[in-house]
Amino acid sequence: LQQLLFKNPNEPPMVFHWFPFIGSTVIYGMDPPKFFRDNRAKYGDVFTFVLLGKKTTVAVGPAGNDFILNGKLKDVNAEEIYSVLTTPVFGRDVVYDCPNAKLMEQKKFMKIALTTEAFKTYVPIISHEVTSYFKRDPDFKGKSGIVDIPKKMAEITIFTASHALQGSLIRSKFDESLADLYHDLDMGFSSINFVLHWAPLPWNRKRDHAQRTVAKIYMDTIKERRALGDQDKELDILKHLMTSVYKDGTPVPDHEIAHMMIALLMAGQHSSSSTSSWIMLRLAQNPQIVEDLYQEQVKVLGADLPPLQYEHLAKLPLCQAIVKETLRLHAPIHSIMRKVKQPMPVPGTKYVVPTSHVLLAAPGVSGSDPNYFPNPEHWDPYRWLPGSPNAPLMVRNDEEEEKVDYGYGIVSKGAGSPYLPFGAGRHRCIGEHFANLQLQTIVCEVVRLFKLQNADGSSNIVGTDYASLFSRPLEPAKIRWERRQ
Ligand code: HEM
Repeated sequence: LQQLLFKNPNEPPMVFHWFPFIGSTVIYGMDPPKFFRDNRAKYGDVFTFVLLGKKTTVAVGPAGNDFILNGKLKDVNAEEIYSVLTTPVFGRDVVYDCPNAKLMEQKKFMKIALTTEAFKTYVPIISHEVTSYFKRDPDFKGKSGIVDIPKKMAEITIFTASHALQGSLIRSKFDESLADLYHDLDMGFSSINFVLHWAPLPWNRKRDHAQRTVAKIYMDTIKERRALGDQDKELDILKHLMTSVYKDGTPVPDHEIAHMMIALLMAGQHSSSSTSSWIMLRLAQNPQIVEDLYQEQVKVLGADLPPLQYEHLAKLPLCQAIVKETLRLHAPIHSIMRKVKQPMPVPGTKYVVPTSHVLLAAPGVSGSDPNYFPNPEHWDPYRWLPGSPNAPLMVRNDEEEEKVDYGYGIVSKGAGSPYLPFGAGRHRCIGEHFANLQLQTIVCEVVRLFKLQNADGSSNIVGTDYASLFSRPLEPAKIRWERRQ
């Protein structure tokens, strides 16, 4: 009754709930995409729900994505939402623990290091990490076996990303203490820490100890590499940051470089490892596509399958489509939030979102909308290749998108695209090309070595675990591998 009587006609409709503080927290948390779909059907593209006492306004569809993700700096703010979680994990003075203009400069430094020249060196590094992982891991001994794939993909992701982006010195430390320390840091990212980030709880103590220790490892490595001078030939981000200078002439301090390195690895780790796990699970569900991928490489590169190079990846459209289609259905970031700083009229509606609200963008909603993707629930990589009956009915492709520069290089605005797994606007992902390269290289190497199928021989797929900030497959998620002759 209260919800009906005190309804402000200029505010978006409120999702009905029984209990004031809890609101829709539980039902949203169980399955966010379903929550968005169901309430969109009831209330339209813009609606509000109560998440842990906070009125949270969701705006879906390309217009909703544009409204939130391209919101002006005076209107929307990301750091007020995320810094409680990220600052204790990354460390101070970077990402959300500094003014947005500084983050834009930091993103620019990191993005400049992600060049084609650097990418050419990364593919052989990643290939080597993947093949040597399968040689040494005891669960891949023999001709066939069954493994819980997310655990394996998490390790492969951290080894490949740390080696390519941060150099061999840092990579070597993952065989010793760094992997465990990153695991402790990771616990700082559980959703409960939105509320309990400050509490002297065991996992927060471990997080703080790990942050200090990891930052010191990076700072020592920076010193070691500076001492190497011209002998240091690696083309990684760490090297680039060591020579970067802010616009005001200040060289990036070592503690900021260290904290950016933590941020980079953490930003990519969850998204890429969740995506590579989903790819393997989808391939195991569709063994024929593993064969198609293998044949694609044989056809394009020759039956002797030469060592993989960066140039090869662009010639493998099915392999690219596998990554694209998996991110369409299993985008690891299902909710992107912003604090409202000025009352915000929603274009094309009578609604004004007040400053007491948080905004929530969910680009995955348009990614699984039948108006844009025929048979949206069907994982069909072929939809991205010419002539498919399930071809996307895109409003606009990335190439046709309006371009914009928020201070970290030109990016597409993304406003007309229903497909935005890497976000849009000033907070858009800078790791997209690296993630594609990393995921495609992993897929290429896996299908060279193995045939895959579901452990129980079925064509089922596991459910999604939404308990942490990044969604991922529910574990155990076992698949059966068989070594290729
Ligand atoms: C931002 C997705 C991999 C670094 C984002 C955002 C999304 C995203 C949706 C926007 C967040 C927001 O607007 O609040 C993904 C996906 C990945 C991936 C799906 C892999 C499949 C990576 C990798 C790196 C990376 C590998 C590092 C090399 C970043 C950074 C930001 C970002 C630095 C900027 C955060 C900001 O400006 O607030 N990513 N990402 N990501 N990502 Fe990624």
